[in-house]
Amino acid sequence: MQTLTITQPDDMHLHLRDGDALRAVLPFTARQMGRAVIMPNLKPPVVSVADALAYKQRIIAVLPEGSTFEPLMTLYLTDKATPELVREAKAAGIVAFKLYPAGATTNSDSGVTDLFKLLPVLHEIAAQDMRFLVHGEVTDSDIDIFDREAAFIERVMKPVLAQVPNLKVVFEHITTAEAARLVLEAGDNVAATVTPQHLLLNRNDLLVGGVHPHHYCLPVLKRESHRQALLEAVSGAQAHKFFLGTDSAPHPQHAKENACGCAGMFSAATAIELYAEAFEQIGALDKLEAFASKNGARFYGLPENTDTITLVKQAQTVPNSFPIGSGGNLVPMRAGGCVAWTMQA
Ligand code: NCD
Ligand code: ZN
Repeated sequence: MQTLTITQPDDMHLHLRDGDALRAVLPFTARQMGRAVIMPNLKPPVVSVADALAYKQRIIAVLPEGSTFEPLMTLYLTDKATPELVREAKAAGIVAFKLYPAGATTNSDSGVTDLFKLLPVLHEIAAQDMRFLVHGEVTDSDIDIFDREAAFIERVMKPVLAQVPNLKVVFEHITTAEAARLVLEAGDNVAATVTPQHLLLNRNDLLVGGVHPHHYCLPVLKRESHRQALLEAVSGAQAHKFFLGTDSAPHPQHAKENACGCAGMFSAATAIELYAEAFEQIGALDKLEAFASKNGARFYGLPENTDTITLVKQAQTVPNSFPIGSGGNLVPMRAGGCVAWTMQA
């Protein structure tokens, strides 16, 4: 049987939530990943150093016995952020600030209304060698939802990089050929995360034969040519600029299967196996380890994990749902279907 042993991966974009949901989802990531960059869009968001340190303690408190998983904490950037906050965050071991344009996605109401008013904060993020994580979509009502990422590049990303050229930016969960090109053409201070869903699915999987609410995430799935551009980016000559970030974003089943279903796919339970499928599809399994376990660590200035994991080419059936306490359920990506690879225990 075909096996693949790689350095233990890291998930550079993860939503763990809090309370019952945190307790339910954390073991899946802790089993596969050495570390994860923890998104700060809780309700209310993680905006202060004290918030982030308290959240980190709540995560560590519910880690499975003996786990060495390390959460890498981030702060949610708001209009009120100051250069002093950046210095405090750096001193406390927080690795990054996350930009949510106001209204762009789940729990983004406290997001930034005008990033250009925060240039002193961005200069300080660069000076402190922190990372600037970007949800790259504009929210202007004149922009079609499928064009929000491409418009963000022109309206925000390029002007910001021109103003703060040494800023280390992670263009999060990229979904378009335009975003891949921006990263490819920028300096090595610009990188991107890519999710399993954007490597494996296109917008037909969201809309053909009925609406598939469990395939609804933001940025929304795009057409096939964009998926192909992402596959090319993660396996091409400049693949070192792209790394694993699942954007695993759990929402209870009732909130997804709803007249106004919320955005986010839960992929943590079979994350590395889904990526293995995507890389295998394009004959690039030899590029999986760099994407999953090396490029992200390097971009964040972290050592690579010392453990390894082994993937076996053996199909596994994904459960229809997982319980999340108080009677709730989570429907995972590929629910009820098969994933071609299995991570060994
Ligand atoms: C994320 C969530 O649910 O927190 N949802 C999503 O569709 N990706 C937020 C985000 O990363 O945009
Ligand atoms: Zn996210």
